Amino acid sequence: MLLKGKKGIISGALDENSIAWKVAERCFDEGAKFTLTNAPIALRMGKINELAEKCSSKVIAADLTSLEDIQNLYAESNVFLNGKVDFILHSVGMSPNVRKKKEYGDLNYDWLLKTLDVSAISFHKMMQIAEKNKILNDWSSIVGLSYIAAQRTFPFYSDMAEAKSLLESITRSYGYRLGKSYKTRVNTISQSPTITTAGSGIEGFNAFFNYAEKMSPLGNADASECANYCVFLFSDLSRKITMQNLFHDGGFSNTGISEDIIDQFS
Ligand SMILES: NC(=O)c1ccc[n+]([C@@H]2O[C@H](COP(=O)([O-])OP(=O)(O)OC[C@H]3O[C@@H](n4cnc5c(N)ncnc54)[C@H](O)[C@@H]3O)[C@@H](O)[C@H]2O)c1
Repeated sequence: MLLKGKKGIISGALDENSIAWKVAERCFDEGAKFTLTNAPIALRMGKINELAEKCSSKVIAADLTSLEDIQNLYAESNVFLNGKVDFILHSVGMSPNVRKKKEYGDLNYDWLLKTLDVSAISFHKMMQIAEKNKILNDWSSIVGLSYIAAQRTFPFYSDMAEAKSLLESITRSYGYRLGKSYKTRVNTISQSPTITTAGSGIEGFNAFFNYAEKMSPLGNADASECANYCVFLFSDLSRKITMQNLFHDGGFSNTGISEDIIDQFS
């Protein structure tokens, strides 16, 4: 019961493959109470209601690029949770350029702005409104999900790489600010390729998933393992970890080449 008595908000659970879905299940098992949120269009799938039922949670629709929606999410969460929050999960990403297969050398710039807004600036918006509305308890924890394309080039990741760089920068800047005011910590988890709707939408995902599996000494980290890491970061065991991008990738980020890959090319 690592999260006993803790209250939170979990975004991004679309279906049972979503990282956020696994996080919600684990947080519930560890004793947390939380609201679930997703974009109105995603809620139409209806799957999230199953999760809410299972976790005694409440679903609140919010497009996280909309300030009004975030205000409403916090107001409704406050009523359901009967108070302020101890943790927030930002598990949201989307690139219209990737979705519509626009190449990196032919980006639609309006779509690029949308990519940045949905996948990174929404994280800032969530924290800015949380700070202004004073919804955070002292020693609360905020986690976003990132990918190593923020540091290294993965051509298929296109403008999502820019979004993840921005997400990690916002993590440092807001981590400093919220650390000073509420002792709140802010971190991103840089997760292995994971088979989800967002992940599989990236071109060449399967080949890359297999490559990363063979490169990582521990193998890829899956969504359930990512959920464990989130629980740790929401728990009191991680109180002094903040402003970090934390690789959760089985060792991929520090491996130059693996024997498995060498064998494949020999
Ligand atoms: N799957 C991977 O390989 C992988 C690897 C590293 C990081 N990540 C990151 O993990 C996070 C979760 O992705 P996932 O892989 O679980 O996929 P997913 O498709 O299950 O989740 C993405 C979620 O973002 C939501 N979303 C999109 N636009 C939104 C908006 N405007 N407002 C609110 N919600 C919105 C979607 O409805 C969906 O629930 C993303 O930030 C993703 O970039 C994924």
